[in-house]
Parts: sequence; structure tokens; C-alpha cells
Amino acid sequence: MHANIRNLFFLTILLCFLTACEETDLANKSKQAPTVESNSMQKNEEVGNMTLPDAPLQKGDQGDDVKAVQQVLKDIGYSVIESGIFDQETIWAITDIQLQQGDSLQFTGLYDKEMKAVLEKWLEKNGDIHPGDGFKEENGEFNPYEILALVNKKHMLPEDFVPEDLVVPDVLFPFTEDLPKKMMRKPAADALEKLFVAAEKKGLNLFAQSGYRSYERQEELYTAYVERDGEEAANKYSARPGQSEHQSGLAMDVTSPDVNFLLNEAFGETAEGQWLKEHCHEFGFIIRYPKGKESITEYQFEPWHLRYVGEKAAKEIMEKEITLEEYLEGLSY
Ligand code: DAL
Ligand code: ZN
Repeated sequence: MHANIRNLFFLTILLCFLTACEETDLANKSKQAPTVESNSMQKNEEVGNMTLPDAPLQKGDQGDDVKAVQQVLKDIGYSVIESGIFDQETIWAITDIQLQQGDSLQFTGLYDKEMKAVLEKWLEKNGDIHPGDGFKEENGEFNPYEILALVNKKHMLPEDFVPEDLVVPDVLFPFTEDLPKKMMRKPAADALEKLFVAAEKKGLNLFAQSGYRSYERQEELYTAYVERDGEEAANKYSARPGQSEHQSGLAMDVTSPDVNFLLNEAFGETAEGQWLKEHCHEFGFIIRYPKGKESITEYQFEPWHLRYVGEKAAKEIMEKEITLEEYLEGLSY
């Protein structure tokens, strides 16, 4: 009898203990649930109040500013990793957004004040962005719209690439016909106009000779040069179709009356050629094929071929006397 009472007593204690455990567990669970909710609410609020950087960012830049931009791009739906490095995926996402905004933004792949405003609008739920609607990334490969795109014998432009933002810069040409070679992409054309105004103020006589060329036009030219000089010689001064910066819309060959508007090495010795070497970077341009760098660029010295890369890269390239290939090689992306 005594044993039965003792057993009943222990059984009751055990049941109470188990019930208490369950309640504590439930209580804990019900305490955890709001914690999870409040975390996600907090996150949304943080995104809503996200401070996007004011400073411009471009390929290879690193840090928390880049991370903040990447976080927003990821939230929009881009497959961008928050690495804190302004990499190719980030450039694609930005280019895609820029192309979706139509003429109101320049297509550069750079983060700038205008891109900040578009992203802020999206955060405030006032702007539509649809990943892939502007310029879909294909094969993770070449982004022809980015201002730092590398076009050379190893990196080709897509055959069907025709920039959407070609315009005729308001500069002097040594001919009057309305030819496609007068055109450049808008960001490059704007910069070229500023360069020409500055050169004119110095009393220089710059003329723009040849800008945009379609894939087909480059093919015609290259074939004609090969027929005239042979393939080996032609390869030193003419790009094969798809390998010319002129198709990118970011290059302009310039000349002056002192060399009869020709594109030759003597142009580099003129006052115009010398001034360009010193000052073109201030407007975002580089002398793309410098003397002594033929083994890297795989082209002869062309003091007349200006390539737009944006002011930051141009300054570094021209001051360090390096090529675009070397500059890009040195970036961490
Ligand atoms: N002259 C340069 C290399 C071109 O043909 O694009
Ligand atoms: Zn050229």
C-alpha cells in the first residue's frame, strides 16, 4: 500500500515536470517567433533607410560603399554577391538599370549620382526596375556598354553590337558628309566636346576624323588593307572585325591641319598631338596605343586614336604611362 502511494506520488511529480517542460518549451517557442519577425522587419527598415554612397564607384573599387550598392541590387533581384568588390556582375546590373531608364541616364556601368537617385527611388517604392529588361547578361561574358570594356585581339565585341546611344559630337570634322564615322556613344561624345573646347581655348586646331564603325564597315576596311598591304602588315594597324574599339563607339581618331588631316605618327609631334598626350586624361580619354607598348596592345603607335575610359581610369593610365590592358590587369575584380 505504502509502495503504491509512493509510486503514485512519483508519477504525479513526473507528470507535472513533463507538463512544465512542455510549457516552457512552448513559451520559448512563442517568444522566439516574434524575435524572428522583428528581425525581418528591422531588415526591411534598414533597407528602406539604406544610405547609398555619394562617391562614384567603378570597376575594381572596394569597400562598404560597394557593399551597400550591391545589397540594394541584390534586393532588386540581381544575382550580385555582396563581396564589397565592384565586379563584373555589379557592372552588368548597373548597365541593365541604366538601359531601362532610357535617355535619362548615360550607359556606363559606373555607379554615380544619377544611379544613386534611381536606386533610392526604388527603395522608396517609387521606381520600377526589372532585372534583365535593359540589357540581359548573356553567357556572363562581354558587357559592351561598360566604359572600361576591353576590346582587343583577345576580347571581341559581339558581331551584332550596335550601341543604342550613338550621337554626333559637336566638334570640327575635316569633311562635311553625314557619315556614321562622325558618331560616338553619348558619354564619350560629351567628353570629346569638352576636350575640343579646351583645345580650342589653347589655340589648337583639332579635328575629328573617324569615330564609330559598324562590324561590317570594319570588315570592309580590314579586307581592303589586307589586299593592299598583306595580312601581317594590316594586323599592325587595323583591327579585324569585332576587335575594333571603333565598333564600341568609345573611340575617335583625331588629327590636325599640320599633318593635312592624316592619321600618322607625325601627328604625335604636332602641338595638338603633344597637348593631347598631356591633357586628354582630364576629359576621360587615353592614347590607346602608345609608343613602346606594341607588344601589349598588339598595334603600332597611334597618337591619334583616343579611347574614352572615364576620368579616373584615364588619369591613372596616362600618368603611369600604362595601357588599358595593364590597368585592368591591376584591378581586383
Ligand atoms: N586602328 C585600330 C587598331 C582599329 O582598327 O581599331
Ligand atoms: Zn582609331
